[in-house]
Amino acid sequence: MSNEFAGKTAIISGAAGGIGLALAEAFAEQGMNIVMGDIDTQALQISADELRAKGFNILTCALDVTDYAQWEDIVTSAKAQFGKVHMVVNNAGVGGTPGKIEDSEHETWRWVMDVNVMGVLYGAQACVPAIKEHGEGGWVLNVASMAGMMGMPYAGAYCASKAAVVSMSESWVAELQPHNIHVSVLCPAFVKTRIHESYRNRQQKYAVTSDKRIDKDKLKAGAQAATRAVESGIPATMLAQRVLEALRSNQTYIYTHPNYRKVTSARFKAIDHAFVDAKDSDVVGHLINDDIVTF
Ligand SMILES: NC(=O)c1ccc[n+]([C@@H]2O[C@H](COP(=O)([O-])OP(=O)(O)OC[C@H]3O[C@@H](n4cnc5c(N)ncnc54)[C@H](O)[C@@H]3O)[C@@H](O)[C@H]2O)c1
Repeated sequence: MSNEFAGKTAIISGAAGGIGLALAEAFAEQGMNIVMGDIDTQALQISADELRAKGFNILTCALDVTDYAQWEDIVTSAKAQFGKVHMVVNNAGVGGTPGKIEDSEHETWRWVMDVNVMGVLYGAQACVPAIKEHGEGGWVLNVASMAGMMGMPYAGAYCASKAAVVSMSESWVAELQPHNIHVSVLCPAFVKTRIHESYRNRQQKYAVTSDKRIDKDKLKAGAQAATRAVESGIPATMLAQRVLEALRSNQTYIYTHPNYRKVTSARFKAIDHAFVDAKDSDVVGHLINDDIVTF
């Protein structure tokens, strides 16, 4: 098999199920060696065995993305088994618990931020040096969400974490381009996975100890709405084929739901309109022709 992926090695976090597993299979079908990491080691072994039975080269590693030492271990294991690392897919993510600002549990925010944001930083920090060192180039694929492109009521933690992933990815595009490392950020709307059951893998260190006044009925209604939305989503296998297609055309932003364009268009229009307001301002309007300062 000859294509840009064949014979190369990808490390994928959260690969035991859902989007991570679908990406693992799609990249394996292209001839890649796949290193599957997940916090749920039981599900990981079952999924890995299914892929091995199809003849793919699979290595599994226990990986909690919030633990940097485990990221270092997975890179060491990947190099020992397959020689080089060419791609990291920062896919592991959790949905958190929807709720009002005043009901937000600090432990839940920390869990969402640690997994969804720090987990992506750690993944890049551990894998990028390994991709740089062989000089053949490669890929960083960060899994954000349409939630990173728009705010949603009662979902501040998830949206903020995914907006951070979009922003980190944008920052890394130019940084890694000289190394021939292509950075992409995947922004799906709903995909049929178990994201609405993320609490199943919530680590003990994020157990809720604070006494928040959570309205249990509202929480249940929110959970039911999330379940309905996720179950109406596209299959993860369709998403994986779309990712291959978009990587082949070097897309930075990878969208899986073109119908959501109206959402980002409305947001960008509102942002742009706010500049018109600033230009007309008595206080700051005179800055309109000043040079833009960057570093
Ligand atoms: N399903 C959707 O509708 C949707 C939409 C947009 C973005 N996403 C994103 O896609 C990514 C994958 O989610 P999914 O939908 O496949 O959900 P999922 O719950 O089916 O799969 C997530 C995987 O990540 C693993 N995981 C959870 N915490 C982990 C940790 N600390 N360390 C390592 N692994 C961990 C889980 O065990 C699971 O295997 C997430 O980043 C999610 O935010 C999902």
